[in-house]
Amino acid sequence: MIRIATTADITSIHEIEQNLFPEDAWPREKFDVDVRSTFARFVVAEDKAHVVGYAIAQYLPNNDVADVQNIAVVASHRGRGIGADLLDALVEWSFDQGASAIMLEVRVDNAVAQSLYASRGFEVIATRAKYYQPAGVDALVMRKEVST
Ligand SMILES: CC(C)(COP(=O)(O)OP(=O)(O)OC[C@H]1O[C@@H](n2cnc3c(N)ncnc32)[C@H](O)[C@@H]1OP(=O)(O)O)[C@@H](O)C(=O)NCCC(=O)NCCS
Repeated sequence: MIRIATTADITSIHEIEQNLFPEDAWPREKFDVDVRSTFARFVVAEDKAHVVGYAIAQYLPNNDVADVQNIAVVASHRGRGIGADLLDALVEWSFDQGASAIMLEVRVDNAVAQSLYASRGFEVIATRAKYYQPAGVDALVMRKEVST
């Protein structure tokens, strides 16, 4: 089940984030801010009352483009369509808010995530050198237009 995140979810989300991204996990405070923000859509996937995935997009009204900031599914629950459902929820919200496109960055070495985004109509539009620190890994910038 996909639903809106609440403050009660943050401890589980932060734990998952630290496990999945040991080098550059978001600080807990970032999740605390986003769960309250009217400019962010913060969703979780729940299975048997446990958080098994989460995703966040941001859309600032003066901007034309929304951003996917974070998306993750715990390893035990991958390959079941949860990542796609989380991403769909962000895309739908962004376009409902009035965004004309939605963008994201993804590591060049993250083929699975790239495949998820491509399957949802995102296209590579640019590369950002050494975007991910401290590893110094390049990012692909991917974008989906409202009409695609
Ligand atoms: C990327 C991630 C969120 C995908 O979540 P998921 O729930 O496993 O994805 P889904 O089951 O919804 O699959 C959706 C699409 O992703 C792609 N995909 C998923 N698993 C894949 C795999 N093992 N190999 C290749 N493509 C894969 C496919 O295109 C799939 O579409 P399809 O089922 O129609 O073939 C998950 O692997 C994850 O959390 N990874 C670690 C964190 C991460 O890398 N986040 C992205 C940071 S930019």
